[in-house]
Amino acid sequence: MIVCLCQGVSERVVQTAIRGGACTRKEVTNSCGAGAGCGGCHGSIRELLTEAKAEERRELAKVENAQSREDKGTHPLTGVLFPAPA
Ligand code: FES
Repeated sequence: MIVCLCQGVSERVVQTAIRGGACTRKEVTNSCGAGAGCGGCHGSIRELLTEAKAEERRELAKVENAQSREDKGTHPLTGVLFPAPA
């Protein structure tokens, strides 16, 4: 789907820019050109940034939860304590 009609930039290209490190609308524009025209797509770009940040937080929470389970010695799927080493 095209996000920026002025520059003909797709959602996928914007997401690639975000994954590449663009954290603000201006950084996305500098990276791929989306948003460099009329500005009508700025809201859509910000939504994609918000979605990416939410996904990043979910992934971080998964890693932290897995680390916490490892620290506690519990199975990652069942939450059951691993047997104590003999
Ligand atoms: S639609 Fe993106 S700048 Fe106009």
